[in-house]
Amino acid sequence: MDRQKTLLGKDIELAIQFLRRNELVAIPTETVYGLAANALNPEAVVKIFEVKQRPFFDPLIVHVHSTEEIQKYVSYVPMAVYELAKHFSAITYVLPKKELIPDIVTSGHNTVGIRIPGHALTLELLRRLDFPLAAPSANPFGYVSPTTAQHVLDSLGGKIPYILDGGVCSVGVESTIISFETEIPTILRLGGTTVETIEEIIGKVDIHVQSKSNPESPGLLDTHYAPHIPLYIEKCPPEYSHDEIGIIAFQQYHENIPVYQQFVLSPTGDLSEAAKNLFHALRSLDNMPIKAIVAEVFPDEGLGKAINDRLRRASVKRARK
Ligand code: TXA
Ligand code: MG
Repeated sequence: MDRQKTLLGKDIELAIQFLRRNELVAIPTETVYGLAANALNPEAVVKIFEVKQRPFFDPLIVHVHSTEEIQKYVSYVPMAVYELAKHFSAITYVLPKKELIPDIVTSGHNTVGIRIPGHALTLELLRRLDFPLAAPSANPFGYVSPTTAQHVLDSLGGKIPYILDGGVCSVGVESTIISFETEIPTILRLGGTTVETIEEIIGKVDIHVQSKSNPESPGLLDTHYAPHIPLYIEKCPPEYSHDEIGIIAFQQYHENIPVYQQFVLSPTGDLSEAAKNLFHALRSLDNMPIKAIVAEVFPDEGLGKAINDRLRRASVKRARK
């Protein structure tokens, strides 16, 4: 497929036609854009892994439009899921899967990650389809997730037929993943819904962020959310001159670094706004003629936790080179 053939628009009917033909369509959610296929059809799902160059051991999230739909695909829905779904959409629930979810979606696990995204266009699409959508973030494996249709076009243009354009993602970091496999629900990935707000609804949760983000396992650390330009947290190695450095800052510009190489994510100190702007800033810096990106450490509260998690993972790439 040549590059020109990726269409971009708001045409839900066209998206449906492609998906019914087992083609891939990029879809907007309030967290990040997803790369979607019919979750019940292994031939469609395999294309996701091919286009993303994603290893088959990394399971996909299944997207549905309601809790009634969740019931169709998992064997047990805890009350906590209904409670959380009333309030939040940036959450993925890991629950025991039913047979009809193909193994390729879950990488052979007997659980499935399932989510009701909070974006009107994609909810409408899901309501009009008679199958759920498997969708990881719509970026090449290991790269920064897309938060605009243009981001998707930049990296997957020519590889997929259609991008459903739902504007800029309002949350900007991926969903929080919570597993109900354990007696106390366990957070597996920090994300768009904060631990604090989840605990307000369902009480205490455990946090066990997966080994990929575990600093003790550097071999597993190096591929996620990473720009091509090496990213450093707080301190930059001395070999770079000021002109060669890009900055991800929370509230204030840094002295001596050219202003156009700096992204201040929220001058007013709003962590939600910072999260929303994070991936666009990373992608923009990655396209500049600079040699290093330096990111601040964000306040370790609310969405700051998810921001720090993403930056930590993005920073690891330097360890390899
Ligand atoms: O916000 C989001 O979650 C976005 C949008 C598109 O929904 N999706 C997303 O998908 O971030 P992805 O594939 O980039 O990350 C999903 C992660 C996987 O890497 C995997 O670690 C975890 O979800 N996951 C999926 N199914 C799981 C399962 N059954 N058990 C444990 N973790 C699972
Ligand atoms: Mg991803």
